[in-house]
Amino acid sequence: MPPRVIEVEDFDLVVFGASGDLAHRKLMPALYHRSLDGQMPDTARIICSARRDYTDEDYRAWAREAIQEHVSDYHEEHVEAFLARVHYTAIDIGSGEGWDKLKTILDTRPDVIRAFYLAVGPDLFGTICQAIGEHGLKTDQTRVVIEKPIGKDGASAKALNDVVGTVFEEQQIFRIDHYLGKETVQNLMALRFANVLFEPLWNAAHIDHVQITVAESLGVGGRAGYYDTAGALRDMVQNHILQLLCLVAMEPPSSMDADSVRDEKLKVLQSLVPLDQDKIERLTVRGRYVAGASQGGAVPGYLEELGRDDSTTETFVALKAEISNWRWAGVPFYLRTGKRLAKRVSEIVVQFRPIPHSIFGERVGAIPANRLIIRLQPDEGVQMKVMIKDPGPGGMRLREVPLDMSFAEAFKVRNPDAYERLIMDVIRGNQTLFMRRDEVDAAWSWVDPILEAWQSSKTPPKNYTAGTWGPSASIALVERDGRTWSDDDQ
Ligand code: BG6
Repeated sequence: MPPRVIEVEDFDLVVFGASGDLAHRKLMPALYHRSLDGQMPDTARIICSARRDYTDEDYRAWAREAIQEHVSDYHEEHVEAFLARVHYTAIDIGSGEGWDKLKTILDTRPDVIRAFYLAVGPDLFGTICQAIGEHGLKTDQTRVVIEKPIGKDGASAKALNDVVGTVFEEQQIFRIDHYLGKETVQNLMALRFANVLFEPLWNAAHIDHVQITVAESLGVGGRAGYYDTAGALRDMVQNHILQLLCLVAMEPPSSMDADSVRDEKLKVLQSLVPLDQDKIERLTVRGRYVAGASQGGAVPGYLEELGRDDSTTETFVALKAEISNWRWAGVPFYLRTGKRLAKRVSEIVVQFRPIPHSIFGERVGAIPANRLIIRLQPDEGVQMKVMIKDPGPGGMRLREVPLDMSFAEAFKVRNPDAYERLIMDVIRGNQTLFMRRDEVDAAWSWVDPILEAWQSSKTPPKNYTAGTWGPSASIALVERDGRTWSDDDQ
């Protein structure tokens, strides 16, 4: 059955940084798909802006190429129809030239929803927001979208949020964490709160620990310049991974209303046990890849890609987090992410406690505890590992089997990219899948001490060979607790 499409209200979406990488890889393909699926009214406009002196036609050629490169269902006539909504107007943010022209374009439709998407570096957020305010481009129906990184630490995030907040109200600000738009991430909420099965078991009495892995096989490649100022903790843990942790650990919100969900996520972030110096040494591991083999070929190390050898930036993080509340006290959350790991896989593994007593005697051997695996990518799906009787006559033998649901197989529909849903949510004004300011602050409060300790540490990140699962210290981190990372048995 094709997915149900509900058309959004009429809108003008202004994309700043429209000639950049995000627009090329994500925004144009996502908007094309939403247009193709009939979710945009015929009159909706996408007004693209960057410094380059493009005409509408030049920009449309650029956007066409982006769509061609990044979508698998390219249809010439649909692309034409989509591009007809795309307009271009140059703005030089530095000199301030071009804003009047944008105002003229927007003033022709003052009553439709207006969204400004800042697909630019955070250093331009303030200038752009102020110019929007000064040129009177903000209407009652306006929203602004900002992308991570939201700051480099708590203090810079505060400064950045302050500057955006001088022009926009909190309910107009959409802070994107694209992980929240991933199909399986939302399925986590469906799984927990649309089934009666899991919730009674979803606590320290029945769950032994949780693992969250976001492993990438690619290196930093052409992004080394940005990446070296960030590192894996800022790039992935402060936002994506902590957001995943929140969705696993939060109390049931009273509804899917944005603030109900975000209130519950905030409580989780505020309940994370702070890591002091001693814990940082014991419970965190940072690594950096050196030359190795990945995806069938030899690949350089991080420092070679960066072209410098004085960097202490980590490309891998593993850590053990704990949440001090009634539901989760004593349940470790092992978090792990890195570039150039053995394979690209993102998953959440909920490991239940072992059965209290085996009636099967010693002959059947150990009975592995149940595991719920929520796979974000590749091959989105949910797997429940359960024990069954090995088929056939003879004695009772047990075997672990997966109850497997692959979304691609079950639904036979294209899995929409996170940006498709998120951009449409912006137009709808639904903030449920966007980060509220206090969440960002709380996440930084937990991450800041780790960053500070690492910065003042004399020890560099531990090396790991590209194409492996990270430094051995990461394996030791969980083995010390008598556990293993879930990839060990895949
Ligand atoms: C981005 C990070 O936010 O997420 C990148 O900046 C990372 O470094 C990317 O590669 C991962 O996203 P996805 O959707 O490919 O898992």
